[in-house]
Amino acid sequence: MSLHRFPLCCKVLLRPTSFVSSFLNPIRSMSKLTPFLESRRPTESPEFDFSTLSNYKSFNVNHTALNLSISFKASVISGSVEYQLTTLGDRVNEIHLDSSFLDIKNVQINNEKNTSFEVCPRAEPLGSKLIIKNDNTLPKDFQLKIEFATTDKCTALQWLDEKQTSGKKYVFSQLEAIHARSLFPCFDTPSIKSSFTATIESELPVVFSGIATSSNNGTYSFEQKIPIPAYLIGIASGDLVSAEIGPRSTVYTEPYRLEDAKWEFSGDVEKFIETAENIIFDYEWGTYDILINVNSYPYGGMESPNMTFATPTLIAKDKSNIDVIAHELAHSWSGNLVTNCSWNHFWLNEGWTVYLERRIIGAIHGEPTRHFSALIGWSDLENSINAMTNPERFSTLVQNLNDGTDPDVAFSSVPYEKGFNLLFYLENLLGGTEEFDPFIKHYFKKFCRQSLDTFQFLDTLFEYFPQHRKLLEDVDWERWLSKPGMPPKPEFDTSLADQVYQLASKWMDKAKECNSLKQFQKEFNLDDINDFNSNQLVLFLETLVQGDDFNWANFPVASQAILSIYNSKMCESQNAEVIFKTFKFQICSRLTASYKELAKWLGTVGRMKFVRPGYRLLESVDRPLALKTFEELKDTYHPICRTLVKQDLGV
Ligand code: BES
Ligand code: ZN
Repeated sequence: MSLHRFPLCCKVLLRPTSFVSSFLNPIRSMSKLTPFLESRRPTESPEFDFSTLSNYKSFNVNHTALNLSISFKASVISGSVEYQLTTLGDRVNEIHLDSSFLDIKNVQINNEKNTSFEVCPRAEPLGSKLIIKNDNTLPKDFQLKIEFATTDKCTALQWLDEKQTSGKKYVFSQLEAIHARSLFPCFDTPSIKSSFTATIESELPVVFSGIATSSNNGTYSFEQKIPIPAYLIGIASGDLVSAEIGPRSTVYTEPYRLEDAKWEFSGDVEKFIETAENIIFDYEWGTYDILINVNSYPYGGMESPNMTFATPTLIAKDKSNIDVIAHELAHSWSGNLVTNCSWNHFWLNEGWTVYLERRIIGAIHGEPTRHFSALIGWSDLENSINAMTNPERFSTLVQNLNDGTDPDVAFSSVPYEKGFNLLFYLENLLGGTEEFDPFIKHYFKKFCRQSLDTFQFLDTLFEYFPQHRKLLEDVDWERWLSKPGMPPKPEFDTSLADQVYQLASKWMDKAKECNSLKQFQKEFNLDDINDFNSNQLVLFLETLVQGDDFNWANFPVASQAILSIYNSKMCESQNAEVIFKTFKFQICSRLTASYKELAKWLGTVGRMKFVRPGYRLLESVDRPLALKTFEELKDTYHPICRTLVKQDLGV
């Protein structure tokens, strides 16, 4: 008998939350997923992570202690890592760790004589396996200490000199997805979690992904009691000062940005935390701080626990980019407590986080705002899939990186937005937020401090909603999980978008009729967009250039009229999202004067969200200028950004 035919099954009784209840209750053994899903279930659960060269399945990591020293003079971080390990299985006598461009100096087991080790030849992009050989079988519990230093090929760190900052040297790490191995030898897989302590020497203040326990004469100590994977470690050191932005929150940044940073984030952060706590459960990490990093920071934000790293492009002077903070904060549950077991299942980190980010925003600003954000996400997803050279391969929700493909290369909006759309679809399918919310709490409790794959998520979903089993069985899982391309389009509330669409279509109509600025001025003025928030402006600019049926290059008077009439909101905007979309509009309109402006702007931002499409845009109209600009600026970009732009431009 299939489960959904159980009459009057009580949800509470049928919800196995512990081994005992699932033992007493035959659901787990009975409730297979659909035949399609079962045919795709990996043999091992959680699925094996092929993006690590370590033998992580042979060990538990009980604790990790980092002892590091930052040398700005040599651009090197050196020191030791000490692991407290428990061996799983009987005949383990080797430890295999990930390393990438590291200088391994010494290895000791239980503080005894030096142990022999071998750094294997590099296997791109996964790095060099570090093999540590013990003469005998390894003890059940032991300590492993490795002394090492980073090298100039390190992909985990960016070193900046005084000219690139406000006047002092600076270094920061960015380890997700597989760059932790370039900072210290480790089990570089999201399947392995460990508590951490860190003692870091530096001539400049240091921040870390944990709680500061002491700072003494250039030695900074931290503790991360909650077990985390290696990719969540974050370290930065530079001329950092701080200001309080909430009862449990502080912002850190270079002195010249402190006032702006404080203004941008004060107040909202605590609201976000409390809202998230209502949706999921209490914030477990203690403090929630933000580092506003340097311009070359390649991401919008990174969820290092206790210390979100964020791009300075968040400082828009109107709090309009604060949703990135809601996103990074939401990772405190999705990603940092409940973690994808491998990068194939990255959507469990990012799709859930986008879903929670929009729930937070929706709870504070209302449902239309949540839907509006989802709508922008939808067009990001379309753009992202359209721009892919290999959409068949990289636009599926569940990825296949088992052949050693670089997660940086697979990175796109797909896990974010397809993942969000799947959860949003399920929310609606199962009866709306009221029905879905208890499942959110259940899922995050159940997998708290663990790492899981998509099938464990699905098992939990099917188990939790036995009364909706038929609905769940009828979902087109193959399309959602394994097919490339766009997912089914949901019905979004378009109330905040409609005015934007109307204005955009009026412009496209009038562009064909009017042929002087004067004529346009009769039809349009700044009041049209005065009430638009930045996201609406972004959608307006995006709508103008989307679709193949209207080519602005054929209407130069109209495109110049837009820029002239809305000048103060577009060309003079301080918001990087608006600035970027304005450039996109100008380039699509072939306004040649903007090419040099864009090239100049690419020297002021490092966030890949803008830098990569920025070069692609420039290349589409003036390849020599794109190449020349990159040649001049490449050394100022983060190593990951440099590599990816190089690939994008084919140089
Ligand atoms: N965890 C990601 C950043 C990341 C992902 C770094 C994969 C390296 C590899 C972070 O939470 C993120 O998603 N940042 C976004 C913010 C946005 C979605 C609000 C970004 O950087 O744009
Ligand atoms: Zn994220």
